[in-house]
Amino acid sequence: MAGVWRLLFLFLMWSLCESHLHFPPSVREISAASSNKTVKRGITAEVAGYTDVAKRIIDLAVFGAARNRSYTRLADFTDTIGNRVSGSDNLNMAIKYMYSAMAKDGLDVHLEPVKIPHWVRGKESAQMILPRTKSLAILGLGSSIGTPPEGIKAEVLVVQSFEELKQRASEAAGRIVVFNQPFVSYGETVAYRAFGASEAAKLGAVATLIRSITPFSINSPHTGWQDYQDGVKRIPTACITVEDAELMWRIAQRGQQIVVRLYMEAKTLPDADSFNTVAEIKGWQHPEQVVLLSGHLDSWDVGQGAMDDGGGAMISWEALSLIKNLGLRPRRTLRTVLWTAEEQGGVGAQQYFSLHKGNMSNFDLVMESDLGTFTPVALQFTGSDAARKVMQEVVKLLAPINVTKLENNGEGTDISPWMEAGVPGASLHTADSRYFWFHHSEGDTMSVQDPRDMDLCSALWAVVAYVVADLQDMLPR
Ligand SMILES: *[C@@H]1O[C@H](CO)[C@@H](O)[C@H](O)[C@H]1NC(C)=O
Ligand SMILES: *[C@@H]1O[C@H](CO)[C@@H](O)[C@H](O)[C@H]1NC(C)=O
Ligand SMILES: *[C@@H]1O[C@H](CO)[C@@H](O)[C@H](O)[C@H]1NC(C)=O
Ligand SMILES: *[C@@H]1O[C@H](CO)[C@@H](O)[C@H](O)[C@H]1NC(C)=O
Ligand SMILES: [Zn+2]
Repeated sequence: MAGVWRLLFLFLMWSLCESHLHFPPSVREISAASSNKTVKRGITAEVAGYTDVAKRIIDLAVFGAARNRSYTRLADFTDTIGNRVSGSDNLNMAIKYMYSAMAKDGLDVHLEPVKIPHWVRGKESAQMILPRTKSLAILGLGSSIGTPPEGIKAEVLVVQSFEELKQRASEAAGRIVVFNQPFVSYGETVAYRAFGASEAAKLGAVATLIRSITPFSINSPHTGWQDYQDGVKRIPTACITVEDAELMWRIAQRGQQIVVRLYMEAKTLPDADSFNTVAEIKGWQHPEQVVLLSGHLDSWDVGQGAMDDGGGAMISWEALSLIKNLGLRPRRTLRTVLWTAEEQGGVGAQQYFSLHKGNMSNFDLVMESDLGTFTPVALQFTGSDAARKVMQEVVKLLAPINVTKLENNGEGTDISPWMEAGVPGASLHTADSRYFWFHHSEGDTMSVQDPRDMDLCSALWAVVAYVVADLQDMLPR
């Protein structure tokens, strides 16, 4: 019901707006909301008018002078800087690097200051002591406290789920709780990484070791953020490998006692100074109206952050480069934002939203790529049915790269506040079946990236952003 009133309100506001009086007839027909056939014809013709320019963008990115450029840029960036965890010197260097690279590229660049968390891993290790000695590959989880200097040595309780932990609550006190939860999906299983420590601490556990959130492993621990619950004792928490979690589960099933020694120096320092990095091509007609493209510049402190999210950051820069190289300038502003401290809970993006939400009505479309830059398969989109009709036409322009599918549900930690507030949002869906194999691990390196795939992603990103920014109307809300 609320939705109906909101649409009615927006429609009334729109009718009061004088600007639509200047539109040519084909576009004015879009307003004839009584007939959705008319809607279709108007926007279909308008978007089809971009077929040639879309081909030029695709040609440049995939076959022309810009071929391999996204990959080459990402390789230079990650090889030069390395990983870039929130609060680190590397993240500062990364921001400086991107600021000068994008300025040198002829874009309008500025930085927007943000205070971000500064968690430091320090040295860490774990060994199984009983029933035999074996070292365990671990990665402390973001925001975890460390152990005392002498470490924590305790008997282990292995469980497969929160339910099992509840059933065995009386066994948890004084123990290190090992979670050996099976991988269902990232979205579902990540609850163990996020909340495992506090759930175990409520029962008196002294530490938690959590099976990495991945469907595949070659003894690779995968880190990530975790949340201590307010009012619950904070205990050290780290992830272990799938292999070691399953090993300890099997041993426990045989009724054997397991003892582990855990050592972690992890600590949280005062918040650090950082920036969201912003680059623009100003719109010629409505410079205040914005199509926002984005990826996050920070990463975890393991691997190289090439996939998560160096790729998303690079294609969001590359899209603007392609448009600039072709001498194009859309009606509205194209704005690339490289978020800071996404991995710490979208800190840079949250602040950006609170500072800029006053201009919400000028945000036409918000885009984020943070699910890998493998072979593109679809554009994911969140918006009204009316906006979806426009986007259905826009993706048809991607026929030359065979990606004409529009899916539901734009995704991205950094753009979700805008989408929740009703701004249309889009994300890049690529052939990401292997994404969580590498995610937040030492395996996230340039070796998982492919130059041609990145060209295709950049071409898609550029076509969608340019065309939406250049249509006569903003996307309907
Ligand atoms: C739009 O048109 C189609 C096909 O003519 C029809 O099935 C559908 O119900 C219409 N939708 C609305 C919202 O009028
Ligand atoms: C692009 O990269 C591919 C794969 O690495 C290589 O075979 C090709 O020669 C490169 N092309 C250009 C124009 O750099
Ligand atoms: C809001 O938009 C106006 C017009 O473009 C601009 O001058 C102002 O800086 C914007 N404010 C914020 C907080 O983005
Ligand atoms: C799109 O598909 C056609 C037909 O399968 C193929 O020939 C072409 O190379 C594809 N284009 C791209 C850019 O992959
Ligand atoms: Zn990410």
